[in-house]
Amino acid sequence: MRITDALSTEHAVFLAAFDQVEQMMPYVQTLGEVKVIGRLLEPLLHRHGEKEEHLAFSALNHILKDRQPFERLHLDHQEKDNLLAQLAGAGNLAEAQHLLRMAIVMLRVHFLYEEQVAFPLMEKALQDESLEALSRV
Ligand SMILES: [Fe+2]
Ligand SMILES: [Fe+2]
Repeated sequence: MRITDALSTEHAVFLAAFDQVEQMMPYVQTLGEVKVIGRLLEPLLHRHGEKEEHLAFSALNHILKDRQPFERLHLDHQEKDNLLAQLAGAGNLAEAQHLLRMAIVMLRVHFLYEEQVAFPLMEKALQDESLEALSRV
């Protein structure tokens, strides 16, 4: 399996989890509960993002002329980290819910961007064998 396909499959799993989180949000009653959701998502999103950064770096070595999509990918990852860090430090329930909702909204847009723009560029830059090898790293 190519790494771009594996990453898209992970997106589908995250999106299903986001749907569940959004559905349960009105019933969450404590700040601690919202922070636990953030702490559960953070390491999974971090691992996913690291694989993408590694892939982007590999692709960039082949098509140095078109950096913009990879810079946006990196900036989005930083924004996600910032939102989750702010969530971890949130002082009240409403603030935490707002930050988690913002993180989910930005990640939905980010996943779409990756699938429609960044991954196709990576697939163009790298051979299928390289994309398959990267998914085994
Ligand atoms: Fe990403
Ligand atoms: Fe992604």
